[in-house]
Amino acid sequence: MSQFDVKDKMDALVKELNQHTYNYYVLAMPTIADYEFDKKLEELHKLELENPQFADPNSPTQKVGGDITKTFTTVKHRWPMLSLGNTYNEQDLRDFDERVRKAIGDNFEYVCELKFDGLSISLTYEDARLIRAVTRGDGSKGDDVTTNVKTINNIPHKLDHAGVPGIFEIRGEIFMHRAAFERLNKEREELGEVPYANPRNFAAGTVKMQDSKEVAKRPLDCFLYSLNTDKNYFKNHWESLQNLKQWGFNVCEHTQVSDGIDDVLSFIKHWENARFKLSYDIDGIVIKVNSYAQQQELGFTAKSPRWAISYKYKAQEVETILERVTYQVGRTGAVTPVANLKPVQLAGTTVKRATLHNANEIERLDLHIGDSVFVEKGGEIIPKIINVNLDKRDEGASRVIYPSLCPECGSKLIRKEGEVAFYCPNDEGCPPQIVGKIQHFISRKAMNIDGLGDETIETFYQKGLVRHISDLYILHKKADQLKTLERFGERSIENMLAGIELSKQMPFEKVLFGLGIRYVGETVARKLAIGTKNIDNLMKSSLEELTAIDEIGQRIAESIIEYFGKPEHLDQIDRLKSYGLQFEVSEIEIALQSDKLTGKTFVISGVFENYSREELRELIESNGGKILSGISAKLNYLLAGDNMGPSKLDKAKKLNVPLISEGDLLEMLK
Ligand code: IVH
Repeated sequence: MSQFDVKDKMDALVKELNQHTYNYYVLAMPTIADYEFDKKLEELHKLELENPQFADPNSPTQKVGGDITKTFTTVKHRWPMLSLGNTYNEQDLRDFDERVRKAIGDNFEYVCELKFDGLSISLTYEDARLIRAVTRGDGSKGDDVTTNVKTINNIPHKLDHAGVPGIFEIRGEIFMHRAAFERLNKEREELGEVPYANPRNFAAGTVKMQDSKEVAKRPLDCFLYSLNTDKNYFKNHWESLQNLKQWGFNVCEHTQVSDGIDDVLSFIKHWENARFKLSYDIDGIVIKVNSYAQQQELGFTAKSPRWAISYKYKAQEVETILERVTYQVGRTGAVTPVANLKPVQLAGTTVKRATLHNANEIERLDLHIGDSVFVEKGGEIIPKIINVNLDKRDEGASRVIYPSLCPECGSKLIRKEGEVAFYCPNDEGCPPQIVGKIQHFISRKAMNIDGLGDETIETFYQKGLVRHISDLYILHKKADQLKTLERFGERSIENMLAGIELSKQMPFEKVLFGLGIRYVGETVARKLAIGTKNIDNLMKSSLEELTAIDEIGQRIAESIIEYFGKPEHLDQIDRLKSYGLQFEVSEIEIALQSDKLTGKTFVISGVFENYSREELRELIESNGGKILSGISAKLNYLLAGDNMGPSKLDKAKKLNVPLISEGDLLEMLK
């Protein structure tokens, strides 16, 4: 390479890596695998060492990473939040061990921890109270996200342990469990919103939200893994982790002390496969020298400690052939491309399909049929295509072209301004949309109709028994036809019809959610129901009136107006009304919105018979009460269900906090 080429290459790497860093830390939407990123970073670092005259002060090798978003207050970290050096193989790790031994001799221990794949957070406690939560940002200053972090259940707001230092900082990782990610991401897709690529991005996106009420609805979790204090309270890291647990912090149980690198390597080997059984994602193992005195002796480089390193698991990746791309039409009409692959083994399962999200993703990958593609499986259940092996592309290969017509009904697809998804507008005539809408209507969170399931709806549609939600309410007239269906005994027909009849009692907000209006999720439906009181008011509402309702923005309001602008929908609502469904908020529901609990604090714990914990939280909050995360002498009520932890119960008794049942709560609201 000529000197010019070297400089060009270095400049290009700086530009590319800085863009990836921005995508990762600021947009929380990475477009490159970590492993590839690190390889490129290493290549740049090597070029900089060989050609220091071309080194750019803006190079990502010179800074930790992150960036700060504009909308939060920026806070300087008292102790900089450094990053960790990465290793990918046994030799790198043995080299690290060699460096440590050279510096401090052979007499030391390591602590091995899981490397949680989330976003790091710094929590400051003063007089046993959480006073600040700050993101890593650029390592020296980050965003103050205290209000959002306070919604995370297992981060204590107040500590009751007598031995905690007056002021200290604790660090950890905020993350989202995979199951919650899958569920919430699916809901996003159904509402026509851009799905997040993985749980880490979802967690990062959530912590940076402006509205902490929204944050509270998304289940985040947090593991704590390090303590910073002005003087050393403990002699080593392990001891401080044990104490953090005592103080009430969530410390991961899969942590061990190792007396040598071989033991560390077996920990790493164990978790290489065992990690898939965890309910959350990890992307490696962190190895830390245990003794604080020895950590001090080892010290830091500009970017990371010399006493710790991470071992990163390679995201499990295989190369296979893209056989074709198919398109799925969801209930809202969003058309999602799916890559159909030559079956291949990956992380213990056979992979045949990979998600392509939307038309932009096809374009980004410049996909051609027959391409040899790299498929990666992170934590998510559905693998994704990372990139294409261009060396193997056939000359005549044809480019994948996103269709302009709906693959199911042939309607011309539309894309709204500012949205990434294409939609089929034929919501009344496109089969998967019709079936999807009825399936949504009967689902647990909407009308919760017993005795009916997704497959049954599919069969009913095929047999011409239902075409609209309202057809469910005349199924009783078709009992003879139902009896002729396979696997449909008299008993199950009775059950189903009883379930449908019972659903007529479901409150207005559930009916409204069940209609499946785009962008009208559960919470929005509730706000609309309460804000307009009945469907007639809702249908008459102008854009201004709608956006005046709490949490209803322009996009939702437009979607509602568009929905009620279609005569078919009005006809449906008339029919549902005539069958006796609820289209107005009942007196009881209005009564449930009160300030009866204002000034009262609650902790909810255990499992309840009639309501989920989330429902109880909403009930308390909509009546002015406040939910606290931990039990203290100031707590007014412990709302106790079954299987509550004995330590919580003991503590409540000791502090004389009254225990109440869900029945007691309803009594209070009468
Ligand atoms: S200790 C000096 N322990 O990994 C850095 N970090 O690549 C001390 N991480 O920014 C960090 N799990 O966000 C530590 N058990 C763990 C971790 C962990 C995940 C993250 C953390 C850090 C990044 C460094």
